[in-house]
Amino acid sequence: MPEALRKTASYEAEPGEVARVLLLYSGGLDTSVMLKWIQDHYGAEVVALTVNLGQPGEDYEVIRGKALRLGAVECHVVDAREEFAREYVAPAIKANALYGLGYPLFTALGRPLIAKLAVKYARETGCDTIAHGCTGKGNDQVRIEATVTTLAPELKIIAPVRGWQMGRDEEIAYAREQGIPVKGGTEVAPYSIDDNLWGRSSEGRWIEDLDHAPEQDVFQLVTRPEEAPDQAEEITLEFDRGLPVGVDGERLSLVELIDRVAAIGARHGVGIVDHIEDRIVGLKVRDIYEVPAAAIVLPAHAELEKLVCTIHQNQFKPELDRQWAYLVYAGLWWEPLREDLDAYMDAVNAQVTGTVALKLYKGSARVVRRSSPNAVYDPALATFSESGGLFSQQASPGFIELWSLQSRMAWRIRHGDAG
Ligand code: ARG
Repeated sequence: MPEALRKTASYEAEPGEVARVLLLYSGGLDTSVMLKWIQDHYGAEVVALTVNLGQPGEDYEVIRGKALRLGAVECHVVDAREEFAREYVAPAIKANALYGLGYPLFTALGRPLIAKLAVKYARETGCDTIAHGCTGKGNDQVRIEATVTTLAPELKIIAPVRGWQMGRDEEIAYAREQGIPVKGGTEVAPYSIDDNLWGRSSEGRWIEDLDHAPEQDVFQLVTRPEEAPDQAEEITLEFDRGLPVGVDGERLSLVELIDRVAAIGARHGVGIVDHIEDRIVGLKVRDIYEVPAAAIVLPAHAELEKLVCTIHQNQFKPELDRQWAYLVYAGLWWEPLREDLDAYMDAVNAQVTGTVALKLYKGSARVVRRSSPNAVYDPALATFSESGGLFSQQASPGFIELWSLQSRMAWRIRHGDAG
């Protein structure tokens, strides 16, 4: 075996150990080449698994047919949209989850579920090994392998794309040789895309040139803001204990709601994020995200949360939100701290009930109305006119004297009496 292929981690499979492989199959070029290559290289049987997390425009019957044609002994297509929304996106909403201030984590949320399903199907179909198509440069390998080794220490893992060192030309040549359909032109490498119901990312090509402004063809989900309607539109989201449950007066399941909000946001050019990102494996990269649903639901949620929380909760929670997003981004979904944080998120979100309206206009989503039975807000107190006995303005000077005491002392010690 060439030097580069020698195993480093205990869970990596040696060729002799691989008899039946559960392949996470997307239907794209890499995993199609893998499907053949695993049979070739290991003499192993391949069971294909394709997970539907709500990626738009996917034809799962076509993917299934392709897997079987390429020699898969079984092909399973799982619709995991409800579980994804309920168990992964919902806690992310409660945690206002954004990594690096801009990335709503749709891929990072999907990977632990995909890998969990891979474990389930590998066990049910008697596989000894799980194969995925991640490269050695990304976060997804971390998320998938951390999940598999956590949930199923008995399973081995192979990641052929990381090991085989085929360039794109070789890969296309291999595909042609093996009768694997290569769609589209092969002269330009396509964008590297990943998507699900919570968003879509594009990487590669000119995106790697940080000085290159986005080309139009990258946007496949969101209307470019300059082409969005001239007429603004208001959207009202109803929340129940931290989760959106209705849009414009209509109750919807979380999956339906996300789809609905995404469609409205996309029409108005909402949710384009041009993001510089620190990957877990050390690289700094750029991603173009289209996240129309997250760009509406997250600010709406944050607005309502701010309204029902006290100043102390509002100071504290963003720290935990950031830590939650970091753990999930970093592939540590199964880390107990994440569940500890979820318990806190749930406690705070018990109060997050009410409605928020946002105005959507040419790329922006701005909160314009909010209401909650739990708002820590009293218009009689907030008003500029007198509030009667509830708030004594006469008490304010005394408060200010004590509140500023240490800061005043320190300032004088540092600057003397001169000031
Ligand atoms: N940068 C994002 C992340 O690390 C998106 C990755 C998309 N994955 C992909 N295989 N194209 O979560």
